[in-house]
Amino acid sequence: MRRALPLSEVYTLLEPGPVVLLTTAHRGRANLMAMSWHMMMEFNPPLVGCLVSGANHSFEALRKTRECVIAIPAAGLAKQVVKVGNASGRDLDKFAAFGLTPLPAKKVAAPLVAECFANLECRVADTRFVNRYNLFVLEVVQAWIDSTQKKPKTLHHHGYGVFVVDGETIRLKSGKP
Ligand SMILES: Cc1cc2nc3c(=O)[nH]c(=O)nc-3n(C[C@H](O)[C@H](O)[C@H](O)COP(=O)(O)O)c2cc1C
Repeated sequence: MRRALPLSEVYTLLEPGPVVLLTTAHRGRANLMAMSWHMMMEFNPPLVGCLVSGANHSFEALRKTRECVIAIPAAGLAKQVVKVGNASGRDLDKFAAFGLTPLPAKKVAAPLVAECFANLECRVADTRFVNRYNLFVLEVVQAWIDSTQKKPKTLHHHGYGVFVVDGETIRLKSGKP
């Protein structure tokens, strides 16, 4: 039997993940937020569309500095990710409060997150959709992988505190981009 799904819940079906942490540095303060509304837009240079709500402290930091880091946590960091996504950096040092370690990045002022298995340094490439949709188009200008984290499993958000963790990997013949 089919039931009508409230339109406000459609995102729980389509949210792609993985859940990431987006770090910024503004006026001498580093901050981070959880983010799952993002999408790849181009291979090379890699462009990533990211929705950052105007209500978030990170929004102003990203708009002003035009730089950030997309840090990708493995599932073991799930509890910290949820805490980061439920607190504002307006009046809290979330790195210290939730046991995450900021590291200097190479090309941007925003910090890497030491505990994450991948860190992508980004610059804002296009702001034309920001006023309308809070959609920033970011260009990844430097990417880091922590090779000590073997086969990390990522987190995928289904809304309201429900997450799916990556499962089995399957390999099929398919063209490379
Ligand atoms: C799993 C998860 C995913 C989230 N995804 C997004 C997102 O894609 N865009 C967004 O604006 N906020 C998202 N949030 C909410 C922000 O992380 C949250 O509002 C955060 O407190 C903002 O922090 P800030 O005020 O320090 O910037 C998400 C929260 C969680 C828990």
